[in-house]
Amino acid sequence: VEVPDPVPGQILVRNTWMSIDAAMRIRMSEGGSYLPPYEVGSPLDGGAVGEVVESRAAGFAPGDAVWHMVGWRDYALLPIDDTTFPAAYAPTTVAVDETTLPQAYLGPLSLVGLTAYAGLLDVAQLHAGDVVWVSGAAGSVGGLAVQIAKLRGHTVIGSAGSPEKVAYVLDELGADAAFNYRDGDVVELVRDAAPDGIDVYFDNVGGDHLEAALEALRPGGRVALCGAISIYNETGEATPGPRNLFHAVSKGLNLRGFLAGEFVGRLEEFRTVMRGWLAEGRVHYPESIFEGLEQGPAALMALLRGDNVGKVLVRIA
Ligand SMILES: NC(=O)c1ccc[n+]([C@@H]2O[C@H](COP(=O)([O-])OP(=O)(O)OC[C@H]3O[C@@H](n4cnc5c(N)ncnc54)[C@H](OP(=O)(O)O)[C@@H]3O)[C@@H](O)[C@H]2O)c1
Repeated sequence: VEVPDPVPGQILVRNTWMSIDAAMRIRMSEGGSYLPPYEVGSPLDGGAVGEVVESRAAGFAPGDAVWHMVGWRDYALLPIDDTTFPAAYAPTTVAVDETTLPQAYLGPLSLVGLTAYAGLLDVAQLHAGDVVWVSGAAGSVGGLAVQIAKLRGHTVIGSAGSPEKVAYVLDELGADAAFNYRDGDVVELVRDAAPDGIDVYFDNVGGDHLEAALEALRPGGRVALCGAISIYNETGEATPGPRNLFHAVSKGLNLRGFLAGEFVGRLEEFRTVMRGWLAEGRVHYPESIFEGLEQGPAALMALLRGDNVGKVLVRIA
């Protein structure tokens, strides 16, 4: 299509990077998501950064770096007062320099980073001495959750889907123990990794991982229900919930689901903390980069297969 001209109240942005997120798969099913489902025959959307080409809205000037939710295209025409998305997803200018690259706003400085941070601090209510298990530990959210929990002095167990990822979680992210969930029964794998049990489970996976956490949690334990990627590709009958949920009653557990957008009021505070960690080299954040918009579908399928370590990105220009 022709690149449109912005009308008053709109900006035109040339996208340079887009984020590939597990949540994009949820939006390919009807009714399963907190964001509107994708429509067959219409362009997808999702987190992106780019540069303002033309502005007819106050607060945005040509050349500004902008984060927004209209990826999966070369150019995005953005109504600044758009109400299609929740306020947390409104376009914002972002500060870019030699040390803070634009794509950081799709990674450690983004809602992905805030997911890990608020999921641990606000949702799981981390406190001193907690033993923490993070699933999906080699991925984008999980990798940050492992490191944030370590930076706060916790004993951390990570789980992921290959021996290479387990090595990465131990050696690069600094987890105290890690296991490959494909190596056997997850209940036993968690027991081996944390013989005395866990206090916090940061759940990116759901299914058998959540059941294993309910077994391993000590009284008063907490679960941050962040995602359930093990069920996103389901097309038949929905998987029943954890069969051992009664542990929540008998052990007084607190399971809480959350979306990062709920904590957007903490985004600037979180970015200040994370910028400090990044500047000190205390947070590793590898990127799995796909070149060109046409690689978007392959990038999403790679994420769902688990080919990625760290953040999956598509470089558009
Ligand atoms: N609550 C929120 O606001 C929020 C925000 C962002 C993301 N999330 C959630 O966070 C989770 C991670 O998302 P992400 O975008 O950061 O993706 P990611 O972790 O970078 O990539 C997804 C990873 O999931 C793992 N995986 C795929 N199928 C699996 C299965 N059946 N069982 C176990 N692991 C599986 C794969 O690694 P392996 O090789 O280890 O299998 C893959 O690398 C998702 O559940 C997502 O929905 C929640």
